[in-house]
Amino acid sequence: MSHYYSEEPGTPLKTKTIEVCIRGHCFKFVTASGVFSFGKIDRGTELLIESMVLNEGWRVLDLGCGYGPVGIVVSRFVDYVVMTDVNRRAISIAKKNLKINRVRNAEVRWGSLYGPVSGEKFNSIITNPPVHAGKDTLREIVINAPKHLNDGGLLQLVIRTNQGAKYIKALMEETFTEVRELAKGSGYRVYAGIA
Ligand SMILES: C[S@@+](CC[C@H](N)C(=O)[O-])C[C@H]1O[C@@H](n2cnc3c(N)ncnc32)[C@H](O)[C@@H]1O
Repeated sequence: MSHYYSEEPGTPLKTKTIEVCIRGHCFKFVTASGVFSFGKIDRGTELLIESMVLNEGWRVLDLGCGYGPVGIVVSRFVDYVVMTDVNRRAISIAKKNLKINRVRNAEVRWGSLYGPVSGEKFNSIITNPPVHAGKDTLREIVINAPKHLNDGGLLQLVIRTNQGAKYIKALMEETFTEVRELAKGSGYRVYAGIA
């Protein structure tokens, strides 16, 4: 079965370009069938983007970038962004979106979880995680985050309140020194874990 998180989506390619103004900047995003949130920006993604903590000079990982909205917005505020995804169609669309938005301080890499950034560290890992990929995937993202964060680095993620928020928060509390709720609304929570 083909999902938005499959390596090779089985659906024929359809694209739709959207315009999004958020955090003081406007962007054009190509979205695609077979890639998460076709034709729109997801409400959870929007809440994450509006509330995420960013600093100039940071190196950031956008894990599970999809068509790239998180990483591309982040690139306007930080030094460098690495965007990764397991879905090859997402990778090609995210690369297109870097060009369209003239982003020069970000790159897109294909691969699962932390595979594409092995041995690398970041100031923040930011993700709208692939909840439908299952609890094991979510767990891997959270428990392996500290290995890829500098001291004091942040794992920032959005999760549906009734689809794993409790589980994720508890896991983050076991894994991180401190966990803060950055935002809540429209059935989502944004959490930050401090390494
Ligand atoms: C909820 S979507 C978020 C996409 C994008 N960041 C956004 O907010 O629109 C999760 C993304 O994670 C990707 N994904 C699923 N399993 C993955 C894995 N094991 N490693 C990396 N990315 C994965 C999916 O292909 C999907 O693009």
